[in-house]
Amino acid sequence: MSGGSVKSVAVVRGDGIGPEVVESALEVLEAAGAEFEQVPVDIGFDRWKRTGIAMAKEDLQTIKECDCVLFGAITTPPDPGYRSVLLQLRRELDLYANIRPFRSHDLDFIIVRENTEGLYSGLEDVGVEESRTVRLITRRGSERIAKKACDLAAKRSKLTIVHKANVLKSDHLFLSTCRAVAEGRCIPFEDMLVDTAAYNLIVNPSRFDVLVTTNLFGDILSDEAAGIIGSLGLCASANVGEARALFEPIHGSAPDIAGKGIANPIGAIRSAAMMMEWLGEAEMARQIETAADLALDRGMSTPDLGGSCKTKDMTAAIVENLRKMEL
Ligand code: NAD
Ligand code: IPM
Ligand code: MN
Repeated sequence: MSGGSVKSVAVVRGDGIGPEVVESALEVLEAAGAEFEQVPVDIGFDRWKRTGIAMAKEDLQTIKECDCVLFGAITTPPDPGYRSVLLQLRRELDLYANIRPFRSHDLDFIIVRENTEGLYSGLEDVGVEESRTVRLITRRGSERIAKKACDLAAKRSKLTIVHKANVLKSDHLFLSTCRAVAEGRCIPFEDMLVDTAAYNLIVNPSRFDVLVTTNLFGDILSDEAAGIIGSLGLCASANVGEARALFEPIHGSAPDIAGKGIANPIGAIRSAAMMMEWLGEAEMARQIETAADLALDRGMSTPDLGGSCKTKDMTAAIVENLRKMEL
């Protein structure tokens, strides 16, 4: 790894398959020659079950003192009394952009999801007869996510602004702000209703390049996109703010396969590559990506992809590919 001070990475293994895929990502990072201090942080639903606390103030402080976070997955039960640790982290670290690249042989597009407001505003009122969630759209929030998306689109071909402004008045602000940013940056853009975008992702996904959208739409469309490229287990993400970042596969804790040793580690490994790029190691990131692509091209396939490889087999193949490269 090139010069500069040694970086520190908060390693959150989390729940379910989280620890399994993070272990793979760490093995691959080691084989790629990544050097950083690992700071393990035990937070999440398992911690809550053991101690009644999902994340303490000290854990958040520890995370804030690190350069970035490598995150597995955390269980978030549908219980109004439980606050998602992941959402707390996105909020506390102001990780406003959730960048989710989707790549397969024929496809290559990125969903840029606003990560701190929309229907995830936390402005909620839970009642017996009536409950409500405020969908918060701000000019500042829309502007900064639009800028992030334009930064990516500037190096690619075009931007699609995904919204539901025909029904949701709050999306007028999102749409008009994104349009103004794209016009100001001379980025070719179009806008599309979210239901149409969901349809087009299935029937003609190659028409997309960079999509920018609000929080919940981005959440749902990204699992759809994962299905289109083959599996949730393949997909990575970077949650970034101005100076902080958290890297995680887009999948959850997958309780149905946890402990079986069959989770696809590629989403976590690609997230680790995104982390190295963010840390300034673009060449290492590219090598990790190539090593993972090669494993897939040579037929390594976990059960989610229709094969019978174990997590450890896929990891070993990627490590082996890296060892054979000129690092
Ligand atoms: P999930 O993403 O965990 O799993 C959905 C399906 O995809 C399951 O069939 C699972 O087996 C499969 N899958 C997911 N990742 C895989 C992988 N790496 N390899 C092979 N198959 C994989 O969604 P869910 O089951 O609805 O949610 C489980 C828990 O995870 C919930 O508590 C949810 O809130 C939480 N969640 C957390 C995150 C996160 O921490 N980033 C993301 C999504 C969901
Ligand atoms: C994701 C997840 C999270 C979200 C949950 C677990 C809070 O689904 O990262 O996609 O809804 O953002
Ligand atoms: Mn999701």
